[in-house]
Amino acid sequence: MTASATPKLAEIPSLDAARAFAAQRHQLYVGGSWVDALEGETFATHDPATGDKLADVAKAGERDVDRAVEAARGAMNDPAWIDMKPAARARLLERLADALESSVDEFAALETLDNGKPVRDARNFDLPHAIGTLRYNSGWATKLNGETISLSGPGTWHAYTLKQPVGVVAQIVPWNAPLAMAVSKIAPALAAGCAVILKPAEETPLTALRLARLIEEIGFPPGVFNLLTGFGETAGAALTTHPGVEKVTFTGSTEVGRLILRAAGGNFKRVTLELGGKTPVIIMPDADVTKAIPGAAMSIFANAGQICNAGSRLFVHERHFDEVVEGVSKIAQGLKIGPGLASDTQMGPVISPTQRDRIHGYIRHGVEEGANLHTGGHEIGGAGNFVPPTVLTRTTADMAVRREEIFGPVLCAMSFSDEDLDRIAAEANDSDYGLGAVVWTNNLSAAHQLARKLKAGTVRVNGGGLDPALPFGGFKQSGWGRENGREGIEAYTETKAVAMAL
Ligand code: NAI
Ligand code: MG
Repeated sequence: MTASATPKLAEIPSLDAARAFAAQRHQLYVGGSWVDALEGETFATHDPATGDKLADVAKAGERDVDRAVEAARGAMNDPAWIDMKPAARARLLERLADALESSVDEFAALETLDNGKPVRDARNFDLPHAIGTLRYNSGWATKLNGETISLSGPGTWHAYTLKQPVGVVAQIVPWNAPLAMAVSKIAPALAAGCAVILKPAEETPLTALRLARLIEEIGFPPGVFNLLTGFGETAGAALTTHPGVEKVTFTGSTEVGRLILRAAGGNFKRVTLELGGKTPVIIMPDADVTKAIPGAAMSIFANAGQICNAGSRLFVHERHFDEVVEGVSKIAQGLKIGPGLASDTQMGPVISPTQRDRIHGYIRHGVEEGANLHTGGHEIGGAGNFVPPTVLTRTTADMAVRREEIFGPVLCAMSFSDEDLDRIAAEANDSDYGLGAVVWTNNLSAAHQLARKLKAGTVRVNGGGLDPALPFGGFKQSGWGRENGREGIEAYTETKAVAMAL
């Protein structure tokens, strides 16, 4: 099986504009100006559907990091930013949301060129999420209140707290939802009054570059938003050790999260980490399997499995096991795999040849260890980084395919006979990760009891997704802290207590 070689291109609105943007010369955005990297270096990015070169992008090095930090520190001393009224900050973010909304088709096409995802998904999920996140956080700018405190000790004092911006924030994002992730970090940071240095993933810098143009047009004070395109080991690492950075927020691998924690210790940077996951999906005996089957399938096959919260471990009560595995496999076999720009594509390529090979390595290793390859698993020839949706059965809890984040469309399906909720939860919780969990049941009591017992930052029952108002983050090795919601924006503030003798 090969991915369709001559894809039928959909009438993609603004595809020409997106291609023209990709072809431009891309610089760094520092202190309100577009500049080349100081060493003059650039790097190429590639279209995941074809392997063709897509863009040349400036490659930030250590001296560029110094320059961006200086610009951001300048903004945190600039009255135009630090004394800006919260309502004016809110207005800037609203205008950014409006600007994104008016270019939504171009951004969706650009995201598909860069990341490979079906353009429909970019248009219907990534873009609305980014726009919604800007609007949601713009609302918080005027609502970041401290409290007055009733003191418990002796003395006649008046005391209250202030929520103040934490300062210069380095934001390092991955390639699986490049724009949505970048905006999820930028929006609360700017709403809270911080200055930002964004480093997109080296694989997918284009929508961040396009977003920086909008930020420039809207007229944030210089240095409030800076964009460094470049590599993790160099630009990313330099940001995480820099003494002028007060906070690092990161989404990516647990391995790099661990490096960042260590690097941030130098000046005790505040750190928020959204790391890997191995989300369990539990289908209880009373579940509505007609809904649970497509739910379980799309939980792992959407975005070609490149979602930190992908439901990669499926636990099905034995009563439904055969039906669910057959149903999920049928969906897997029916998914149209192809370039994200083709109108009928339901699953695009994975991001890079490295990731494709890594995913196949996991599948091979799983089979060598005794797993049964129920569906998929074969290599897809031709150009592009395509991986078929894959279902493994007969895995054991110690196998790498069960324990490690594969970050591809690979599902391990297991059956259970137990009806004891503690034992079901214990099996689902048998992971170093704790990002998400999904339960399919019509038993209200079981749903709420499992929601309490599952060690995960997000528990979804019978569906439900991501929302800018809903805190998102992980237990255990899935991360530190939360993004989104009130907690998400408060993570960009320091609490200051003020006490005054009366
Ligand atoms: P990665 O964690 O290396 O890259 C994510 C971001 O971190 C990129 O912007 C990268 O430039 C930056 N980075 C890399 N090394 C850094 C360092 N030493 N200091 C500072 N920043 C650094 O992820 P990678 O290598 O692209 O993917 C490997 C695996 O990581 C995937 O297979 C997947 O399991 C996991 N991953 C998880 C994501 C999630 O959403 N939880 C997103 C991306 C990857
Ligand atoms: Mg890496």
